[in-house]
Amino acid sequence: MSTPRSPDCVETERLLLRRPQPADVEAIFTRYAADPDVTRYVGWPAHRTVADTRAFLAFSDAEWGRWGAGPYLILSRTDGTLLGGTGLSFETSYRAMTGYVLARDAWGHGYATEALRAMVDVARAARVERLYALCHADHRPSARVLDKCGFSREGVMRRYAEFPNLPPIRPCDVLVYALVL
Ligand SMILES: CC(C)(COP(=O)(O)OP(=O)(O)OC[C@H]1O[C@@H](n2cnc3c(N)ncnc32)[C@H](O)[C@@H]1OP(=O)(O)O)[C@@H](O)C(=O)NCCC(=O)NCCS
Repeated sequence: MSTPRSPDCVETERLLLRRPQPADVEAIFTRYAADPDVTRYVGWPAHRTVADTRAFLAFSDAEWGRWGAGPYLILSRTDGTLLGGTGLSFETSYRAMTGYVLARDAWGHGYATEALRAMVDVARAARVERLYALCHADHRPSARVLDKCGFSREGVMRRYAEFPNLPPIRPCDVLVYALVL
């Protein structure tokens, strides 16, 4: 079964979520993708140069081309500032993974919760049946965001994944959260 195309742009009360564009490369790099504090608990290596960010944009276009959905950037509706990123990563037509990352100065305002709720709506409209997220077992703020959005904690996958920005690099315990839509 094919996946209905997701909107390029979604608005929430305070946020604009939209598909990344080539002109976003510098802002993504400087606002969050290269920041060691921000990337500590994410599953991808922090960007070292803008070439890494360009590779992310190529990946994003490939995802959008294949699934009609993919990464979204999170921007302030008030002034257009880039706040972070989120998105849907489809694995099958009915199962997708999500996640979120915010620039350091955007933490603590409820933006991750607002962005994740929007991703749940996009996933539902795209006929996703299982939306899930993985998070490092020690990362309390991220787990709290998932709790607040109604995801169920299904368990701990022990020694499941390495976190490339969290030395020493070794397999860590990972929490599995999922929402059935
Ligand atoms: C994790 C992250 C996305 C949270 O974003 P945010 O916009 O600050 O999150 P919200 O404000 O929506 O919610 C955070 C919740 O965690 C709570 N929290 C914060 N620090 C906490 C801690 N140490 N222990 C427990 N709860 C904590 C907050 O109080 C809030 O809950 P509340 O609304 O009940 O008070 C943000 O810190 C971030 O981008 N970090 C870096 C990237 C990252 O790690 N992404 C996740 C990878 S799995």
